[in-house]
Amino acid sequence: MPAGDAINASRAFSREMEAVIAHTRATPRGTPALETKRGQYAGETPQLRTLLWRRSREGGLVCSAIVPPGMGASATRAFSCAGDVGGRRALLACSAVALGLLGHRLACAWATRRRLSLLSGAYSKRAVLITGCDTGLGFSLALRAHDLGLWVFATCLRGEGAGARRLREMSPRMQVLQMDVTDGQSVFAARDSVVRQLKRNNLELGALVNNAAVMVFGEFEWQTERLIKFQTDVNLLGTFRVTKAFCPELRKSKGRIITVSSHCAQATLPGLAVYGATKAGIEAWSDGLRMELQKYGINVITVLPGSFSQRSNIGGQQGEFAAEMRAAMNQEQKDFYGEYFERYQKYLAAVFSGRASTLEALQDPHLYRAFEEALLSQNPRAKYEAPATFRYNLYHFLFKWSPTTKVHDWLVEKFVQLPKWKVK
Ligand SMILES: NC(=O)c1ccc[n+]([C@@H]2O[C@H](COP(=O)([O-])OP(=O)(O)OC[C@H]3O[C@@H](n4cnc5c(N)ncnc54)[C@H](OP(=O)(O)O)[C@@H]3O)[C@@H](O)[C@H]2O)c1
Repeated sequence: MPAGDAINASRAFSREMEAVIAHTRATPRGTPALETKRGQYAGETPQLRTLLWRRSREGGLVCSAIVPPGMGASATRAFSCAGDVGGRRALLACSAVALGLLGHRLACAWATRRRLSLLSGAYSKRAVLITGCDTGLGFSLALRAHDLGLWVFATCLRGEGAGARRLREMSPRMQVLQMDVTDGQSVFAARDSVVRQLKRNNLELGALVNNAAVMVFGEFEWQTERLIKFQTDVNLLGTFRVTKAFCPELRKSKGRIITVSSHCAQATLPGLAVYGATKAGIEAWSDGLRMELQKYGINVITVLPGSFSQRSNIGGQQGEFAAEMRAAMNQEQKDFYGEYFERYQKYLAAVFSGRASTLEALQDPHLYRAFEEALLSQNPRAKYEAPATFRYNLYHFLFKWSPTTKVHDWLVEKFVQLPKWKVK
């Protein structure tokens, strides 16, 4: 090719490339071909070919540059620059998002570490006492509090039971004590032991967690007086008894009282009228106590832990309770309820028979987070609620906003799905 033609070709090439670059910059990815003038000039390099092929594979612009002889390499560079503008922007955006996410994770991890290090600093000399640590939530919370570096007084109904033995294996920071919350003597004995250990280890009682509770499933008329007293004594009076016993220590430390409540306190379910009444009582008591004790620097908190009855021992004695209810029925009640009562209890037996081992710590980060907040926040709220399942949340939302009692009761029936009463 004569020199003048080569120069013209080179100029033409430059203009074409500028057009390609401008178009590539202006056109979003995924837009089909710009133009194809391949082969007008020789000199297309293997790199340029690869680049064009890659672009078309990626669904980006498919375009061929016009490459004069001897200018393949610079054309490839120019095209690479132009073609990569969109890619580079996407890469930059992706990097920014990735960096943002990484930064967020690091910030969260740092905040958690800081919270926990504050905790280990401020709380290294503060202990937590939890009731009902034999199984379920109490057992899990004892392990969690221990993992957080706290001193834990884990009180168990059965001081030599499997749960107590497992907890004792942890470390000297996990102190296991026998305590029956219905028995004043047992509560005071545990209290004296705790006070001695606090002194010996130069500790103070940072928090009392009232967790122990029992639940008897069955319609109110079926429940014997003993079963009604049993639930009231453990859930309500037991909580009062333990709290009263530890109030002096909590006043000294300006500690906090955390009581485990239940959704049944807000929306009582059929079959759980007595249990619901005890939990509603706990909420009312906590509200009053909060206002009484805040002037002494004690925070009073309730926690709604969600639902995990398949992973705790709360339904573990239902068979025995059913036998007691059945045995206490008179002939008229047996005739009236007979088949329905048996169907009802059979249904509950099936529900609770699928329980997981109660000696496995619950795996629910949201639940632990609610407790950690209640336990560690410098300015804790009066109420914490661990998120429950979608179904649970939806129904409880609908219960709250039901336009009429009829709608409310119909929704509750749909929610609990208990066996239906059949009129003979
Ligand atoms: N499970 C749920 O879905 C759910 C939902 C909302 C709220 N809650 C609340 O969460 C808390 C823990 O319940 P959970 O489900 O983990 O049940 P759980 O496994 O039965 O735990 C309750 C613990 O309290 C103990 N306890 C019973 N009577 C006692 C007494 N007289 N003195 C001291 N301890 C006694 C139990 O010992 P034994 O095992 O020997 O009986 C058991 O270890 C309760 O306050 C409950 O109301 C549970």
